[in-house]
Amino acid sequence: MSSFNPRMLLWSTLLLFGILGGHHVDARPKRDDGPLLSTRQEGRDNSTRPCGAVFDEVDRLLAIREFPAFTASDVYACLVTIPFAKDVGLRFIEYYNTTLQFQSTLAYLRYPTAEYQQPAIDVVAELGRVKDKVLAGGYQRQLDFEYDIHSIVLAMHDSHVTLTFGITAAFTFASEFDIVSASLDGRALPKPYLKSDILIAQADGFKRQPSPIATINGFPAVEYLTRFAKQHAFGNLEDHADWNDLFEHPANDIQGFYGTWGGQITFYPGNGPDDGLIIKLENGTTHEGIWLALLNSLHNPGPIETAGDFYNYFVLGLEPAAMPVIGDDDGGPGPSFGDLKPIEVPKDEEVWAFESDGAYPKADIAQENLQIAGGGVVTGYFQDDIGILSLPSFFQYPDEAKDFSAAVQDFITEAGKRKIKKIIIDIQQNRGGTVALAFDTFRRFFPDEPQGLPWSWAGSRRRSHPMGDLLGTEITDWWNSLDEDDFDKWDEAANEFVVSTKINALTNKTFSNWREYSPSRSANYRGDRWSNVERYDLFNDQFLYSAFSSENVEDDPYGYGHNPIETSQIWTADQIVLLTDGLCSSACSIFAGMMAQAGVRSVVAGGRPETGPMQAVAGSRGARAYSSGILDWAMKFVQETLAPNTTLLPVIPDDFETRDTGILVHNAGFNLRDEILKPDFDRDPDDQHLPRQFQYEAAHCRIFYTVRSIYNMTRLWSDVAKVAWTDQGLCVQGSTGYADLPGQPAISLPPPRLPIHNSASVVDTARGGAGEDDNAPPTFNEGDIVAGQGLVKQEALKLCEAGACPRNFRCEEVPVKCGTGQRPTQSTAEYCLPLCRPSNSADNSGTCGKYSADLKLNGALSCRLKFAVEINKAKGGRQDYVGCCQPRSGIKAKDFCVRSTTPTTTASRSPSSSTSPAVAAATP
Ligand SMILES: *[C@@H]1O[C@H](CO)[C@@H](O)[C@H](O)[C@H]1NC(C)=O
Ligand SMILES: *[C@@H]1O[C@H](CO)[C@@H](O)[C@H](O)[C@H]1NC(C)=O
Ligand SMILES: *[C@@H]1O[C@H](CO)[C@@H](O)[C@H](O)[C@H]1NC(C)=O
Ligand SMILES: *[C@@H]1O[C@H](CO)[C@@H](O)[C@H](O)[C@H]1NC(C)=O
Ligand SMILES: *[C@@H]1O[C@H](CO)[C@@H](O)[C@H](O)[C@H]1NC(C)=O
Ligand SMILES: *[C@@H]1O[C@H](CO)[C@@H](O)[C@H](O)[C@H]1NC(C)=O
Repeated sequence: MSSFNPRMLLWSTLLLFGILGGHHVDARPKRDDGPLLSTRQEGRDNSTRPCGAVFDEVDRLLAIREFPAFTASDVYACLVTIPFAKDVGLRFIEYYNTTLQFQSTLAYLRYPTAEYQQPAIDVVAELGRVKDKVLAGGYQRQLDFEYDIHSIVLAMHDSHVTLTFGITAAFTFASEFDIVSASLDGRALPKPYLKSDILIAQADGFKRQPSPIATINGFPAVEYLTRFAKQHAFGNLEDHADWNDLFEHPANDIQGFYGTWGGQITFYPGNGPDDGLIIKLENGTTHEGIWLALLNSLHNPGPIETAGDFYNYFVLGLEPAAMPVIGDDDGGPGPSFGDLKPIEVPKDEEVWAFESDGAYPKADIAQENLQIAGGGVVTGYFQDDIGILSLPSFFQYPDEAKDFSAAVQDFITEAGKRKIKKIIIDIQQNRGGTVALAFDTFRRFFPDEPQGLPWSWAGSRRRSHPMGDLLGTEITDWWNSLDEDDFDKWDEAANEFVVSTKINALTNKTFSNWREYSPSRSANYRGDRWSNVERYDLFNDQFLYSAFSSENVEDDPYGYGHNPIETSQIWTADQIVLLTDGLCSSACSIFAGMMAQAGVRSVVAGGRPETGPMQAVAGSRGARAYSSGILDWAMKFVQETLAPNTTLLPVIPDDFETRDTGILVHNAGFNLRDEILKPDFDRDPDDQHLPRQFQYEAAHCRIFYTVRSIYNMTRLWSDVAKVAWTDQGLCVQGSTGYADLPGQPAISLPPPRLPIHNSASVVDTARGGAGEDDNAPPTFNEGDIVAGQGLVKQEALKLCEAGACPRNFRCEEVPVKCGTGQRPTQSTAEYCLPLCRPSNSADNSGTCGKYSADLKLNGALSCRLKFAVEINKAKGGRQDYVGCCQPRSGIKAKDFCVRSTTPTTTASRSPSSSTSPAVAAATP
């Protein structure tokens, strides 16, 4: 959770036969048997070429600059024709199982505490079941295999565990109707509504109440959505948060994200070939629509005609014929997104109101460059006697992080000047980001931490296992051996496998070696063992530089490093309240945890239509999101550079940067470290501690969104102020008494985990439902698949050629950063950046995965919004957003970096001005 961003990408596929054969074969599908383009003619019977028909449409829509949206059943008809190849599936399982050995919570997921609210899952056993099914010939379709793997991922209910791979990476499903959940008056249980009906009623001053949704496809709406959430919800610790995650929300709107139902659906939501979606309101009005499929990656894969082409591209990572370049665009399928209209929005204080259908009022404080298109996120409001600080995200590029802190400080200063005594910190929809900003923001409210730093103590630990211990031992020893002025000493100081920059919570001194951190002792919980508890050393220059790109001492988080406290505390803990919706995750969880330890109460909004308590922070409470891409970099480094007895490590061949993934993997994230709370550690420092992830952390009070507050923040904030400072009786019935305050334990016990049958059904693979046409023969042509014959290398970002880029890329200026021991010859360079669609997963990588191939050069890419696009008006006229994949903090460009032998400046923290790869590794 942290703030580091795990958006990594891997995209190489290594093919076993090629390696064994010891020679490199051109693995691209053969294209010289005849131009595939010519086979795509009007008038062809599309029913025999479902994939070809879809990708013709991709071409056509991109050519007229429309966002490629489809009826879901057309895409599904293509997906079910993609065949399954056994050996490729088995290699993926091997790769994924190895990766998940680093997931910190395996034993607790298998045997959770009673207070954990989700069903248990034995991840390794489930992977084993899928493997057995592969071996038994149980899969004919790639889709069924991938759906079973995604079911396991979703059943982990940890938003740090992400997987974008194979054919399911191609499209996301979406409803064309945006919905919200709200109570009529704050007392009645919430019901679902069409968002548009709420907005219409609101514009009319609620002279007429909007009519709730009664049924969806004939099922009672709540029952339908409950089942829907069970199947599709991602990454939350309880049903209430999963419920909130389904719906649209103003704090999502301002980030360009959709709720799960509105645009984050993994599994085909239709019923076989039927993708109808019929919504009937209580007053009888009926809306008929369909499920949509949205192309995830705006990189047009080029000519995809058959199921085999689709398999080659999305499963094996083999590119079809070369893509035309803009400028010599003769006869190519048309222009690219090159001329997309940039998003035009009002500036500054008005921008959130514009993006949220008027839900946010005009801001009194706004972070510099506030925009949905990536940039500022912080706003502040003063209404009546309350001050509201809105923090919808901690995700910031290093350059923006300063503006974030400045906006928070402006808010505090101004609220202090106005003598405001009630402060709401609104962290709805905050999925994390830069962990430094969690510390920084916390210390601006609580500059005087008590002796011993109990609030921002932030302890964590990881799962110990042989491969992790090998990496840690080798990399820590290597780092310890470096000279102080070696660039690597700075760059890698925050590397997760360098433990000598982390503080041992038992001794308050840094660890001297890996063994001290991860002693080989006997298993301590259900067969698993963990490291000792580590803490960040936020006064270590090398660590700050490496972890947070904090190049200058003034960039340090407030109160740490060389950034001294210069303000004093204005508000006591009871004058501040956190507003959450349960979705707070990662760096947000760290922030909310520090606030809670300082005695700040929380009010949580929404949740399922039932009374009772709800947790304030139910996204991932893990302390560090990590990705297989960074992990593979560490494996490769140990193998090649340190070269110990590495029989324990999987082999990564010379030309590759990743292990054999079997199936093309864009992003495989996991949680590397559990957060351990100080009170749990103190209870018995030598004992096993219960990770915060598996504890029940109720909010102090829960409120329902109402029809009047769900799209009116002014109203919502005043409801929050009422329950926080005036009348606790307005809290949802039975929701109080579960949360403790320092020195004041809760009166009620957490609710026990419900004995729900595990929904990670690897058994039920027929997600198409009853009407599905299983008999249609796959239009797969054996010869199209070239698995097992060659090697594909990773792709990195390329320079623009005379300002031109391939289709679906844009030429953009990117800051040049250089690697260890190098300095830039120019500060920016023009690169072709791929267009992308963002997602609201914790890592913000959107669809940029495969392009951050070269970790050391490019670092992690995230999808930075740039353009608004109208999706097919006929199908609901939704707005969607398109961005460019941008390196988080500049490109380490070979072409513009020269070797420098001496440290450059003394003003800057480190010997080089380079960006740390560890930051690329950072997690949200
Ligand atoms: C097949 O699909 C293409 C592209 O969507 C379309 O132009 C063509 O008319 C379709 N052919 C038939 C027979 O429907
Ligand atoms: C996953 O890895 C673990 C640890 O190496 C091993 O015990 C288990 O058998 C593996 N499972 C599968 C399905 O490969
Ligand atoms: C039913 O409610 C919807 C949404 O509030 C409204 O648009 C529609 O006009 C109503 N229909 C009738 C027949 O009152
Ligand atoms: C280490 O520091 C903590 C405060 O962070 C303090 O409570 C504890 O007593 C210290 N332990 C040692 C061994 O100094
Ligand atoms: C390398 O390690 C493996 C497993 O620990 C061991 O069996 C083997 O003997 C070692 N090889 C060498 C050369 O030390
Ligand atoms: C939002 O609610 C406030 C307070 O109830 C009200 O004054 C304001 O008019 C509402 N805004 C809209 C757009 O309805």
